[in-house]
Amino acid sequence: MILSIESSCDDSSIAITSIEDKKLLFYKKISQELEHSKYGGVVPELASRLHLEALPEILEECKPYFSSLKAVAVTNEPGLSVTLNEGIMMAKALSLSLKIPLIEVNHLIGHIYSVFIEKEAIFPLSVILVSGGHTKVLLMDSPDSIKELATTTDDSFGESFDKVAKMLDLGYPGGPVIEKLAQKGEHSIKFPIPLQNSPRIAFSYSGLKNAVRLKIAQKSSSAEDIAYSFQYAAIKHLLQKTQKVFKLNPPQNVCVVGGAGANQMLREEINKLSSQYEFNVYYPLLKFCSDNAAMIGRAAIDKYLNGSFIEMPKLKAKSSTQFSL
Ligand code: KG4
Ligand code: ZN
Repeated sequence: MILSIESSCDDSSIAITSIEDKKLLFYKKISQELEHSKYGGVVPELASRLHLEALPEILEECKPYFSSLKAVAVTNEPGLSVTLNEGIMMAKALSLSLKIPLIEVNHLIGHIYSVFIEKEAIFPLSVILVSGGHTKVLLMDSPDSIKELATTTDDSFGESFDKVAKMLDLGYPGGPVIEKLAQKGEHSIKFPIPLQNSPRIAFSYSGLKNAVRLKIAQKSSSAEDIAYSFQYAAIKHLLQKTQKVFKLNPPQNVCVVGGAGANQMLREEINKLSSQYEFNVYYPLLKFCSDNAAMIGRAAIDKYLNGSFIEMPKLKAKSSTQFSL
């Protein structure tokens, strides 16, 4: 079994996964959303302190598995360095005391594996990654070959939901509240679709965010209509540019991962695209869209089987990623 730890942002989570049949034997997550909500975003120092309380609390429950562990895996790259350190310190302590090797899992690769929890992995895989920090289309030919085909030039998809929610005083995280509010709204505002007339294959959300800011200041529309119209433009932009990528790199298998992959309107639009372009589409279970240790554990199995371990002194928190596998 592998014990895996996730602490890259505001979720403390530990999982235990069986190496042979990939079954999830134990899984727990303590989310800090409520504590950060009043600040309108994640406060790194507070997050770090809360991990320090939550991770040992979850680890207590894992004690019965200790004697069966073959490795300890931990999330890294990208994340908040102060919170990554909490998981890394725990992983190092477990590795030392239980005399088992360490596995470092790139957090974004972890999100990709969220669709393969308790399953065999499928490659080649085109990845639409939409989280709070990233908006990317990636091509993964195998577990250790990943190519970035498109990324954002400014804000990320999920971040734009967070910022619009903040402007509307709806708290954090913004994605779920905006999505819920949008269900009561109509498409009464035609926000400009970012980079619509540009041949560039890239994402950009800061212009749309500013258009929303101006609309809110005008006080002429309901929050529901603003939420619907913003969500429509944000998804339309994501789909327009993703289609351009897919025309150049026709996909066989597509997965949509990251916290914002939970968005139902986005899933419906991607389903339409999958019929049009005839690809298979994979989504994680809703509970595994946001940060969790189960996806880290699943990614760690493939690294374990490849013998990809990291020596203790080399394991350091990395807040940004280059996909240098
Ligand atoms: O992957 P994640 O849990 O954390 C990061 O690694 O960033 O993603 C969190 C992001 C937040 O920006 C949140 O607002 C967004 O995902 N999100 C959503 C939805 N649920 C979460 N965005 C749009 N629609 C949703 N339903
Ligand atoms: Zn994440």
